[in-house]
Amino acid sequence: MSQRPFIRIPSTLHPVLLSPSVAPILPELRRFAGGRRPFLCTEARLSKILAPILGLLSESLDQAPLVTFAGGERRKNRGTKERLEDSLLRAGAGRDAVLVAVGGGLVSDLTGFTAGTLMRGVPYINLPTTLLALVDASIGGKTAVNTPAGKNLVGLFHPPMAVLGALDLLDTLPPREFRSGLAECLKHGAGLDADLLAWMAERSPEGLRRDREALLHLVATSSALKCRVVDEDPTERTGRRNILNLGHTLGHAIELLSGYRVSHGSAVAAGLCWEGACAVVQGYLPRTDLEVLLQAVRSYRFPPLWHSADSAAVFEAAAHDKKNTKGQVAYVPLAAMGRPALPPPHTAPMTLLALRSALELLPEG
Ligand SMILES: NC(=O)c1ccc[n+]([C@@H]2O[C@H](COP(=O)([O-])OP(=O)(O)OC[C@H]3O[C@@H](n4cnc5c(N)ncnc54)[C@H](O)[C@@H]3O)[C@@H](O)[C@H]2O)c1
Ligand SMILES: [Zn+2]
Repeated sequence: MSQRPFIRIPSTLHPVLLSPSVAPILPELRRFAGGRRPFLCTEARLSKILAPILGLLSESLDQAPLVTFAGGERRKNRGTKERLEDSLLRAGAGRDAVLVAVGGGLVSDLTGFTAGTLMRGVPYINLPTTLLALVDASIGGKTAVNTPAGKNLVGLFHPPMAVLGALDLLDTLPPREFRSGLAECLKHGAGLDADLLAWMAERSPEGLRRDREALLHLVATSSALKCRVVDEDPTERTGRRNILNLGHTLGHAIELLSGYRVSHGSAVAAGLCWEGACAVVQGYLPRTDLEVLLQAVRSYRFPPLWHSADSAAVFEAAAHDKKNTKGQVAYVPLAAMGRPALPPPHTAPMTLLALRSALELLPEG
């Protein structure tokens, strides 16, 4: 195991510290909280699963109170935010508060948004407890809740004071959630770092779970890639952040059409492959690069969801995604592994014909 207590990820928007275990980040948490009154925020369900760790955090922050709210993507909404605000105010949160978000992307999105409007804005710190949050959701300062009109439609850019990651917080994470995080790591490799993709191709979900040193390497590399992109486009002005949407144009459509029964990770993994094949059909990506991508995704045994998908329905669902102007489906074609074909905003229109022809380049199973 590494001799350093934690790894500092290069980032200008907010510091990111990573550690194999939670102990070394406790003094950092106290330091960032400074003279402020800390409030630990998490989902009700997680407060039981993570009770020992929450106890430790509270103790190290002078018995900081724990404030919980309902979890589940369906309840990531304005009503839950309101209830969290009321709970925080009842617990005595004022202008000197600092919120500490302990959980996955749902907790950081809700807590971050709440911090952004409570008392016209108080700081917050992210302690991610899912792999997806560690490498993606906790980084970059985007916060939001869902509305009946769509996901993440109301929110703020409100970067956390710091992201403090500890791998042992992932110990209780179910395999399905772990794999969702791995799909985002594959996305970071495919879009930004061919070496990471090649490194991942040689590993497996089980292997990465067993090998702390390897997992630390993956998390450090993957979160550094996200940091680099958000530093270049902190408030989503230049279109640079679209590279982080790789695999998500078709991934979101697949997820939506399944009624959210397909996991985000499986949908994104299938989206990466299908969009990669579209890039080949549309002349952006050499066929050999697609094979490299398919090989890496294969190591993680995500289901080949393109088989059972209705292409026209997928295209239609993608065309109505909030990121697409009506009727047009924009996706991020790659020129090679680790390299987008086009400068920011990186996107090109996809046709239904390309989407259909792409299926011929994808494996049966
Ligand atoms: N702000 C951003 O930039 C950004 C980026 C990507 C995703 N997101 C958002 O993040 C959310 C998805 O994040 P997620 O995948 O972390 O989902 P999540 O927060 O819903 O967590 C997934 C599941 O894992 C459970 N869980 C979390 N930590 C656990 C642990 N240590 N042990 C056991 N169970 C645990 C949760 O209770 C939940 O059931 C979505 O709402 C998405 O919109 C935001
Ligand atoms: Zn995603």
